[in-house]
Amino acid sequence: MARKPLIAGNWKMNGLQAARAEARKLVESLGGVAPADADILICPPATLVADMARELEGSGVATGGQDCHAAESGAHTGDVSAEMLADAGAAYVIVGHSERRADHGEDDAHVCEKAKAALRAGLSAIVCVGESEAQREKGVQEDVVEVQLDGSVPKAATGSSLAVAYEPVWAIGTGKTPSLDDIAAMHAWIRERLHHILGDEAENVRILYGGSVKPGNAAEILRLEQVDGALVGGASLKAPDFIQIIQARQSG
Ligand code: PGA
Repeated sequence: MARKPLIAGNWKMNGLQAARAEARKLVESLGGVAPADADILICPPATLVADMARELEGSGVATGGQDCHAAESGAHTGDVSAEMLADAGAAYVIVGHSERRADHGEDDAHVCEKAKAALRAGLSAIVCVGESEAQREKGVQEDVVEVQLDGSVPKAATGSSLAVAYEPVWAIGTGKTPSLDDIAAMHAWIRERLHHILGDEAENVRILYGGSVKPGNAAEILRLEQVDGALVGGASLKAPDFIQIIQARQSG
């Protein structure tokens, strides 16, 4: 199955104007252009999306947002629409990240509306799912992810308008990761559930792993045939680390 890997950096609420230098360094380390056999993406904070998209123009490295409002425009103080992100040069937007689900009370229906907004604006949505530590300890992680997928994935999504990121909450920013067998099993489960939602189109959807991906563990994770890429938080902030993760894919 020829799904092109997607290696995405999620900068979260980090990065002032000076951080654009990291994007420049990344492109330089890539030899000026992104590898043809992978999609590379940086999702900076909203304040940097337009500048980053300009900075990365022609490099093949895409820019994305970290969240969007479900509406196209209107009285929603402080929010940014998918259309605004597209207008600023973004090609992707992350929706339903566990930090948004926890900090802003976003439920699956809300995440689905945001993902639909992404599709409406011509962006690819990266829909995040993943269980908490307590849920993993209880062994209900597959049930949790099934409910999240059923509620958050728009039925009209395609392989080019949707990626799913499996990010166990307990692995984000903690240095802990599931075993490779557990990652493979969950990704296979997600693929199966996507078939129920999207039919055959599910085969074209990329399923990324996220949660403490680092240069030291990227190769073994990306080598798993069930894993189509990574959503990288902390290790995407520094170009030398992110480049090692991008290159780990080739040694994987
Ligand atoms: P981390 O974050 O790589 O810092 O664990 C991943 C994410 O939250 O997307």
